[in-house]
Amino acid sequence: MKVKYLAHSAVQLTNKTYNIIIDPFISENPNSPMAINDIDVDYIILTHAHGDHLGDAIEIALRCNSTIICVNELGIYLSNKGLKVHKMHIGGGYNFPFGRVKFTIAHHGSSNSEGMYMGEPAGVILTIDDKKIYHCGDTGLFLDMKLIGEIDIIDLMFVPIGDNYTMGIDDAVRAVGFVNPKLSVPIHYNTFPIIAADPYEFTAKVKSIRKNAIVMEYGQEIEL
Ligand code: NI
Ligand code: MN
Repeated sequence: MKVKYLAHSAVQLTNKTYNIIIDPFISENPNSPMAINDIDVDYIILTHAHGDHLGDAIEIALRCNSTIICVNELGIYLSNKGLKVHKMHIGGGYNFPFGRVKFTIAHHGSSNSEGMYMGEPAGVILTIDDKKIYHCGDTGLFLDMKLIGEIDIIDLMFVPIGDNYTMGIDDAVRAVGFVNPKLSVPIHYNTFPIIAADPYEFTAKVKSIRKNAIVMEYGQEIEL
C-alpha cells in the first residue's frame, strides 16, 4: 500500500484496488501539495468535523461518489446533505472491501463551522493489506493508548504534535512510547502560526526513546 502525506492531518492511502483519504483538508490548507480536483477516492474517513479535518470532504464525495466513514452524529449531518455515509462509533470496527476500520477514542471536540455538535471526535485504526495504521486524529495524550498498542501491532502511527489544540511534541513522544508503532510520523503542525512546531525535534526525541520516526514531506509517498 502507498501512503501519501498531504500536509496537516490529511493522508491518502492507495492499494491495488482502492483509494482512501483521511481528513481531506485541501483547498484551505496553505501547505497542501495537491489541488482538490486531483483527488479521486473511493472512501473518505473523517476523524471529526472541525474544518481542518472535514475539509473538502463534501465536495470530493459529491464529485467522486465516495463513501464517507465517520461517527454517527457527523454521519447524520452528512447524510442529510445527500452523501453516501457509513456511520460507526468509538470502539467499533467494520470490514470494508478495502480493509478494516476501527474507531478509537480521542480527547478533543467536534463541531461544524456553525458550532453545532457533531458527536465524539475519534482516532482511527486501519488494517489494509495486513498493515495497521493508527491515525490519532486530534487528541490530547491518554493512557489508553497503551491498550491500543497492546491489542494491535501498529506499523505506522500518525501523531499530532502542534500543541494548543492537540498534544505538543513531548506528549506526542510519550504517545509513541505508549503505542510502540514500528514507525511514527508527525502531523497537525505548521499549518497555522498557533500550531508551529519543529517535526525534527519530534523525530529526534522519538529516537532518543529508541523508537522510529520520520518526517514526511508534504506530498511525500512511502510504501508500507
Ligand atoms: Ni480538531
Ligand atoms: Mn485539527
